[in-house]
Amino acid sequence: MIPIAKPSMGGEEVSAVADVLYSGMLAQGENVARFEKNFAEYCSVAEAVAVNNGTAALHATLLALGVRPGDEVIVPDFTFFATASSVCMCGARPVFADVEERTFNVNPISVQECIGPKTRAVIGVHLFGQPFEVTPVWELCEDAKIPLIEDAAQAHGAEYHNKKAGGLGDAACFSFYPTKNMTTGEGGMVTTDNRDLAERIRIIINHGQSEKYLHSCLGFNYRMSDIGGAMGCVQLNKLDSFNSRRRAIARYYSKNIRAAGIIPPFEVPGATHVFHQYVLKVMENGPMTRESLSAYLSGKGIGNAVHYPIPLHRQPVFREIAGDTKCPVSARLADQVISIPVHPSVTDTERDYIVTILNEVK
Ligand SMILES: Cc1ncc(COP(=O)(O)O)c(C=O)c1O
Repeated sequence: MIPIAKPSMGGEEVSAVADVLYSGMLAQGENVARFEKNFAEYCSVAEAVAVNNGTAALHATLLALGVRPGDEVIVPDFTFFATASSVCMCGARPVFADVEERTFNVNPISVQECIGPKTRAVIGVHLFGQPFEVTPVWELCEDAKIPLIEDAAQAHGAEYHNKKAGGLGDAACFSFYPTKNMTTGEGGMVTTDNRDLAERIRIIINHGQSEKYLHSCLGFNYRMSDIGGAMGCVQLNKLDSFNSRRRAIARYYSKNIRAAGIIPPFEVPGATHVFHQYVLKVMENGPMTRESLSAYLSGKGIGNAVHYPIPLHRQPVFREIAGDTKCPVSARLADQVISIPVHPSVTDTERDYIVTILNEVK
């Protein structure tokens, strides 16, 4: 089976991790600090704070921005669960904005409609590795005097008008889960140009300690281990080559997939999509349903997945919060999308095989 995702690991990661294990400094050693510095430089921002996963990055950022019970935070309806659950973790309410048909990303018009007196922040997601339309959302946030958070969990190295994801809003949150464009096993990062915000996040992720054993607020243990930091330094050096391979495979797919009723992803001009996922749309009038296509691909040894089958406003846990929210585009996409392998370990032979098998759909 060609897997839908696979971390790319080599001898350098093994030896960097082994060095940490032998050093005896497993928790907060020099590697976390080095990884933070290198990641901040990569994103051209002043600060990067490493944490133990992407959800923790979002939670700590929202808390540091002052999101509290009674507040609302606007999130896209079509994304991974953690974008919204992190809002609930602050006792606040996620408000679901609809997305755009072609890009799967948040629709600025819908964001505008969701802004109200209780809105405390907006989280935009660079879904599947493609930046959302930052400029109009940023302008809405400026008018409303609320911060814009990038959920860049799937977009390491993506660019929007030549600026890296991570430096496009007030703060950005990354995940280094093993399926992501780079990994630390589990891990996350917050990037920001706001040094005060970074300092508040550093306190929150370390038990609320402003000094050793002085707890100035209720914090959490959200720290990254030095094992993760060591892997992160090596993976960051490889990120651009991983992303070029993802983009090359995606380009090949988009040029050569000619299957009936299957629509390849749309790339926004002016943005650099890093193809965390390559997501096709299966149209209703085509020869196969999404479910039959999935079974067909699996039967041919091609891993595939649905990201995401249920829009957030229809998740059981959000039923009460969502009320009569309607996000028709998001709901439609949840029935249409299917992802095929685009990770750097896909070989040219596998890539050609995937196109051949898909093009047999008539
Ligand atoms: C868009 C998005 N946001 C947040 C997260 C949460 O990251 P983590 O799994 O590292 O907690 C993920 C991870 O899958 C994600 O894809």
